[in-house]
Amino acid sequence: MQQITLIPGDGIGPEVTQSARDVVTAAGANVSWDTVSAGMQTGKQQGTPLPASVFESIAVTRLALKGPVQTPFGDDYPVCVERGTGPRIYPSVTIALRKELKLFVNVRPARNYPSVKSRFDNVDLLIFRENSEDLYAGRERMVDADTAEAIKIITREGSERVARFAFDYMRRVGRRKLSVIHKSNVMKLTDGMFLRTAQEVARDYPEFEVNQRVVDALCMELVIRPEEFDCLLLPNLYGDIVSDLAAGLVGGLGVAPGANIGSDCAMFEAVHGSAPDIGGKDIANPMAMILSAVMLLRYIGEAQAADRVEQALTAVLRDRKHVTRDLGGSAGTREMTAAIIRNLSGSSPTNS
Ligand code: NAI
Repeated sequence: MQQITLIPGDGIGPEVTQSARDVVTAAGANVSWDTVSAGMQTGKQQGTPLPASVFESIAVTRLALKGPVQTPFGDDYPVCVERGTGPRIYPSVTIALRKELKLFVNVRPARNYPSVKSRFDNVDLLIFRENSEDLYAGRERMVDADTAEAIKIITREGSERVARFAFDYMRRVGRRKLSVIHKSNVMKLTDGMFLRTAQEVARDYPEFEVNQRVVDALCMELVIRPEEFDCLLLPNLYGDIVSDLAAGLVGGLGVAPGANIGSDCAMFEAVHGSAPDIGGKDIANPMAMILSAVMLLRYIGEAQAADRVEQALTAVLRDRKHVTRDLGGSAGTREMTAAIIRNLSGSSPTNS
């Protein structure tokens, strides 16, 4: 049985992670859950938003399903992690987890789903975002009272690792074209390194069509003809922004899943945040978290359970009677989850 660390998180996190857990369990996946807490509420209760118990659990499971955690704006919320050599400070719990667990790539699919209203048809994007470097490397400081500074770090090693991951992943799932995204006309050294390294790695994968786009031009093209793009490879900051844009192309944050993957550990989470405006109201769309759990199931080889969940979700979307408000319905989180589970019962569970 595969153990999974479950981090409910803040805001809508506990509701949508409960949905994902219920659906995965009902699909017959051979998994068990170790629930640990992190986030702003945890910080208030335990004095730290990221307790050691989270790392202790993931050290055993090597796998986590994480709800969103709230990060207050401003400079008064450093996340301090004390493991191994000395304390390290991070701007958020999510960034701390990605860095400490060496989750070097963030995979974010954005595609059309049946009956989910969007401006475009035939969008099927697979986004690979470098997850550990760039302006998110955490080197930000006040130079003096009126000047703030952040350092952009791009390494050849980090760029090569994420490029190889992207091509290997594309090979496994049968994709065909990769666009490398950069701003090397201005950021000549950093983005230049990212682009050049990806192009060098591409020589080892001659079966793929590879092109490149400057990030601002890409944004313009994506909102005009997103169906012409297949896979995107981006440095951290552009990847963060473009993946939210891509979510907007296919129906919004409620339908966008994600996976953070490292060499021996993985953490799955929706693209959306903790949505404090709707937290605890039973109206959040659980789909992005359920699709993140589907990615987790595929990662651990539970392909049949993953297929069953996707089919059940698709049936609920097509039927439209039990979908949440953001999808044009009036169902609550729990009602939509229950409908997905009812649709699972059509075929026999994988492991029961
Ligand atoms: P957000 O994604 O939480 O919310 C943006 C808008 O989308 C809100 O109107 C919200 O109600 C809606 N929304 C988001 N998820 C939804 C869902 N599943 N169903 C229906 N509507 C949904 O982004 P925001 O407001 O910028 O961030 C809120 C908090 O979340 C912040 O503290 C931020 O730092 C944190 N955050 C955490 C992330 C993580 O833990 N991975 C990722 C992004 C933000």
